[in-house]
Formats: sequence, C-alpha cells, structure tokens
Amino acid sequence: MILGIESSCDDSSVALLDIKNLKLLYHKKISQESEHSSFGGVVPELAARLHTKALPALLEEIKPNFKEIKAIAVTNEPGLSVSLIGGVSMAKALSVALNVPLIAVNHLVGHIYSLFLDCEARFPLGVLLVSGGHTMVLDIDAAGKISLLAGTSDDSFGESFDKVAKMMQLGYPGGAAVQNLAWQCKDKQRFKFTIPLLHDKRLEYSFSGLKNQVRLEIEKIKGQNLAGATDRELSNDDMADICYAFENAACEHIMDKLTKIFKERSFKRFGIVGGASANLNLRSRIERLCLENGCELLLAPLEFCSDNAAMIARAGREKYLKGGFVKHNELNINPRVKF
Ligand code: KG4
Ligand code: ZN
Repeated sequence: MILGIESSCDDSSVALLDIKNLKLLYHKKISQESEHSSFGGVVPELAARLHTKALPALLEEIKPNFKEIKAIAVTNEPGLSVSLIGGVSMAKALSVALNVPLIAVNHLVGHIYSLFLDCEARFPLGVLLVSGGHTMVLDIDAAGKISLLAGTSDDSFGESFDKVAKMMQLGYPGGAAVQNLAWQCKDKQRFKFTIPLLHDKRLEYSFSGLKNQVRLEIEKIKGQNLAGATDRELSNDDMADICYAFENAACEHIMDKLTKIFKERSFKRFGIVGGASANLNLRSRIERLCLENGCELLLAPLEFCSDNAAMIARAGREKYLKGGFVKHNELNINPRVKF
C-alpha cells in the first residue's frame, strides 16, 4: 500500500491506499477549522503547531500497517511553507525508518485525482479547480500533461466566500456558511452586484472587486461612517440577501469565462475539484453547461472535495507505477507553483 500525507494548509490528513485495486484502506483528517475560525482565516504559525500534534497522532493509528507500506506520497507544493514542512519532514523520517521510497505530490494534481479515487484516471479532461487558494481552468491532454487555460489575478473563488463570511463574522472557512445563508434569501432583487470582467476578453478571473462591492453594501446597511462607527448590525435577512447576490455573481463570473472556453474547445469530459466545488449553485450551473455541450461531468465525492490525504495517495500511486521517486535531499517544499 501507499501512505499518503497531506498538510499543505489547515488539514492534517493520512491515508493508506491499495496500489493494485485502489481500495482506500484508511483515511482520516484532523481539521483545524475551529482553531482558526475566530481569526477569520488560517494563522500559519498556529497551523504549523497543530500539524506537529495531529500528524504523529494519525500515524500512531496506522502503526500496525507500517510493514505493508511500499512508498510514501507527500504533498510538497503548493501551500503554506510552515504547514508543508510538517508533512514533508514526517514523510522523510518515516521513509528512512521503514526503508521505502518517497513520492512528491503537487497538491493541485492531488485534487484532480480526487475524481478518480477508486478507478483508473480518464484523460483527456477539462478541469475547474476552485479552492481557498486557487481558481483555475485546466486542460489535461491524453498523456496527462496539464495546461492552464484561465487563472485568477487576485483572490480565489473560495477565498472570496471566506472574506465575505469574515465581513459578517460567520467564521472560517466561510463557503458553506455563505451558501446556507444564500438559501435563506427572501428578497432576490435587493442587491445586484456587477459581474467582474464581464466585457473583458481575457480568460481571467478576479474576485477582489466583487468582495469590495459586498463590503460597501455592508457598510451602507450598517450606516458606517469613516471612523468605523455604525448605526446598526446586519440582520439575518440582510446577510441572506447579500449572500444570495454575492454567490450568484461569483458563480456567474466563473460561468461567463467557462462558457467562452467551452465555445473555443470541445471537452469530452469535464471535472470540478477543490474544496469550493462543494458549492451546489456552481455545480448545477456546470452540470447544465456540460449537458448542453454533450460533455460528461465528473465530480469528486463531497467528502473528498476539500483537502485530504486520499487524493494525495491516489496521485502518488500514478507516480509509483512510473517509478517517480524522489531522494530525501531532493525533496523540497515549494509554496507557490504554476502550471
Ligand atoms: O481545497 P480546500 O479544502 O483547501 C484549499 O486547498 O484551499 O478548499 C477550501 C475552500 C475554502 O475557501 C472554503 O470556504 C471553500 O473551499 N468552500 C466553499 C464551499 N465549501 C467549501 N466555497 C463555496 N461554497 C461552498 N459550499
Ligand atoms: Zn486544496
């Protein structure tokens, strides 16, 4: 079996995957959401400290399986450097102790393999990756080579949900909370946010302007003056109406560029991955786009949309079959990475 280790942000996760039949033999994740929630975002130092507690605890649980491990796959890029280093150090130490090779896994490639956790990968494939750190449309050719078709010039899709949630003190991460509030909207016409880059031909995303529109509306409702003093707090109805308008504008922005990409090339199949692919509004819009274009839609199980070690073990298994190992002294972390 392959041991997968993930610690690129605020989730510590470990998985054991059967190399031959792709059976997930063990998978567990210790999330740090509650610890970061009051800060409205991930605090890197806190994340690093929590990984050093969680990872050894998870490894302790699979100690009886150590003899059966044939290789260790670990996320080494991209992510928070202080978080990545926790998993990579652990992987290096264990690889020496068990005398098994190391496999370096790109976290984004891991998300792509969340579509194929229990089956062989099917390329060519178009992919929308929407997470807290990334918004990308990717084209993967039959040989598995990845090209970037569209990226974001500022915030990511998931990050914009987190920031809107922070403005309303909904805790971190904010994606699910914003989605839930949007469902409670009573006045769908109350707010209309401008769709970013609507008449711009570039295949690029940008969410910071939309986030700013939300901030200005919140300040208006609260009657906030320049010194920050406010007349009243947001009601649940205010928040629900704002979340509804924001979620729709964010999804429309994704769909505007994606529709243009679909006009330029015909995808045989298309997948949505990353933590924010759990968004049901986005899912249903892409479902419709795929249906209209005769394209097969692939979705990761909801449980494996957000960061997890199962997808890292799964991506590592592909490299294992090709002998894609890395030496201890050559396994480095890389916080930023581009396709
Ligand atoms: O992939 P992931 O677990 O971590 C990164 O690699 O960033 O994605 C987490 C992101 C967070 O920004 C979270 O707010 C967002 O995914 N997210 C959502 C939803 N569920 C999670 N965003 C929008 N709608 C959701 N339902
Ligand atoms: Zn991720």
